[in-house]
Amino acid sequence: MATHYSAVAVTFVLSLIIIGFIVFMQPRNNKFDAKVVRAVGDGVNDDSLALSLIDAWNATCHSTTGLFKLSTGNSQVGPLTFTGPCIAKKMVVNVVGNVIAQPKNAWPNNSDTWIKFTNVHNLVITGTGTFDGQGSGWWNCDKVIGLAFHNCNGLFLNGLTSVNSPRNHVSINACNGATISNINIRAPWDSPNTDGIDISDSNGVNVIGGHIGTGDDCIAINGGSYNINITSLNCGPGHGISVGSLGRNGANDVVKNIRVIGATFTDTQNGVRIKTVPGGSGSASQITFSGITMTRVQHPIILTQFYCPHKSCTKDILPVVQINGVSFLDIHGTSATPDAISISCSAHPKSCVGITLGKINIQPVNPSMKLVTTCKNVYARFILGPVVPRVVCTPPPPTLTDHNYKDHNQHAIATS
Ligand SMILES: *[C@@H]1O[C@H](CO)[C@@H](O)[C@H](O)[C@H]1NC(C)=O
Ligand SMILES: *[C@@H]1O[C@H](CO)[C@@H](O)[C@H](O)[C@H]1NC(C)=O
Ligand SMILES: *[C@@H]1O[C@H](CO)[C@@H](O)[C@H](O)[C@H]1NC(C)=O
Repeated sequence: MATHYSAVAVTFVLSLIIIGFIVFMQPRNNKFDAKVVRAVGDGVNDDSLALSLIDAWNATCHSTTGLFKLSTGNSQVGPLTFTGPCIAKKMVVNVVGNVIAQPKNAWPNNSDTWIKFTNVHNLVITGTGTFDGQGSGWWNCDKVIGLAFHNCNGLFLNGLTSVNSPRNHVSINACNGATISNINIRAPWDSPNTDGIDISDSNGVNVIGGHIGTGDDCIAINGGSYNINITSLNCGPGHGISVGSLGRNGANDVVKNIRVIGATFTDTQNGVRIKTVPGGSGSASQITFSGITMTRVQHPIILTQFYCPHKSCTKDILPVVQINGVSFLDIHGTSATPDAISISCSAHPKSCVGITLGKINIQPVNPSMKLVTTCKNVYARFILGPVVPRVVCTPPPPTLTDHNYKDHNQHAIATS
């Protein structure tokens, strides 16, 4: 192992010298590369590396070319904040090699994010490199976000690889227009809070293809998110794709127009999920999950207005985060537990309207296991073919029903 390591190190240092030479031979249109090459190989926990990266970012940001190479060689790097707005119309970050975080014991107390891009517009992150968050030291205390994109217009993450983040791997917050294609995110199935992508307060996000396998949600869509498309994502292991939790600690959260199309879930705890916390307000509307394949998923379909993770909330109190217009269509595969479909809505009027199920076929992993379904306080429509296992939805209790409310499209129907 040690010999192998030194052979790799020697090869690596030689390549750096060669790269360094090549970089110095380039026309000096980008003084930043030279700096980084100098900083590389200085050893672990290299604060001067962080400083030179930030320096170089600033130079590139104030250039017109906007081409930035993010590479740390064999050094570990602590928190980095890359700030804009930039003069360059577009910032292209080419990630080269492993970009490795400092471990927990070297972390400054005041930083909650490893690598943060803030106010950078038209940011493209590409390259074959890997972000390694060295998260294992954190996994009992939930603190540092891996890669955060805050306040951006136009973000393109193309083929980004992120592993073992201390907390969530990628955070998209306050962004307008983001495309995340072929992302690759990995952490052990039992690493806590290592969400793949968290989206909040953002409009127009496309996640296309890619694989996310972690110890928590593959993707979580939180308050303030509009027009989010997730297409052909492979998720697993992990906790599935979740809208919410919404309304935590009494928050007012709104999400609207979310499509999860063509996803696969393999060995996940949940498949597709919407969760709201009692006592929160706002709404979740126009949400579609369709063309989904589940393989050995413990809870394939969940919609709950009683999400109380830390038992800090009371069941079925007002207000309620209203759910309006959710479709579960063309969902097939296997469930690893009896709990195939669970839809639990508040008994308060209009809490949960416009729920559609259609063309669902979920079978137990073990044929001798009997699947169960729940669908309460819901008017549901069943369309386009059968729902298996059978779902019987019960409407909210009449005493709580607002008699002024009429929706002629909604009926309580049991599938046969
Ligand atoms: C960033 O770069 C610009 C232009 O090169 C310079 O004027 C400014 O002082 C730099 N800022 C920092 C924080 O280094
Ligand atoms: C973090 O704070 C503790 C006390 O609050 C201090 O002892 C420690 O040195 C600090 N660590 C760093 C890396 O600043
Ligand atoms: C999401 O997909 C729909 C349907 O294909 C499309 O109309 C919409 O523009 C897409 N949204 C984004 C953010 O690309």
